[in-house]
Amino acid sequence: MKLSKRLKHIESLVETNYDHIWDCCCDHGFLGTQLLIKQTAKNIHFVDIVPELIEDIEKKLGQFHPEQKSNWNTHCIDVAKLPLTIHQGKHLIIIAGIGGDLMLRVIDAIYRSHSKLEIDFLLCPVNRQFALREKLIELNFSLRDEILIEDKSRFYEILLVSNKVNKDSTISPVGEKIWQSNNEIQAKLTKAYLNKTLNHYQRIRQNNANNSERVVAAYRNVKLKD
Ligand SMILES: C[S@@+](CC[C@H](N)C(=O)[O-])C[C@H]1O[C@@H](n2cnc3c(N)ncnc32)[C@H](O)[C@@H]1O
Repeated sequence: MKLSKRLKHIESLVETNYDHIWDCCCDHGFLGTQLLIKQTAKNIHFVDIVPELIEDIEKKLGQFHPEQKSNWNTHCIDVAKLPLTIHQGKHLIIIAGIGGDLMLRVIDAIYRSHSKLEIDFLLCPVNRQFALREKLIELNFSLRDEILIEDKSRFYEILLVSNKVNKDSTISPVGEKIWQSNNEIQAKLTKAYLNKTLNHYQRIRQNNANNSERVVAAYRNVKLKD
């Protein structure tokens, strides 16, 4: 199975020390299946709200990975309602390919229902990155890693964060490491992304949308680093 460039980058940030990895909003389950094949964690969970997708994934996993039957579970549920407490151990929740507003809502719900668990989140929203980062800051999450990538002419921020407070690894509302580059290609990418993001918020500001003045000022302060 061939993963998209975006999913490959997300996969590259997944460490092997988790008991449970949740591929949320999994659609056809490509990422989770890859993690299952690579035996990245003992338990891979496939979560989507659409019954037909989950039925199809179950069928395919049963057919192509019968020997790993004890290593995967499927859940046809709203990702805001993950049954984390009945699965003991260290959790990684991956949420990618959905809008920032939905992502904000589900992270807030998971945070409130599972405040006692230590959870890592690997996040790749398709928009509203600033709002998502502000929410993570409000919840006192800490940053483990962040990267900026381009796939099929679209930019994506990928964030690996933890719900554990760590004063030495705070999250920036605009990002920090994503603006650093150590080669020409990445330098071009960061410059293009900064231009695009500033143009976007400047357009919104012209329509007098709430908050955009502050966001424009924050991105104007970004210093690209080689
Ligand atoms: C575009 S796909 C993303 C697939 C994959 N995660 C990726 O990044 O390529 C979005 C998926 O999110 C699912 N979805 C949307 N809202 C959801 C929710 N509240 N709970 C669970 N799944 C949801 C949709 O059914 C759809 O399959």
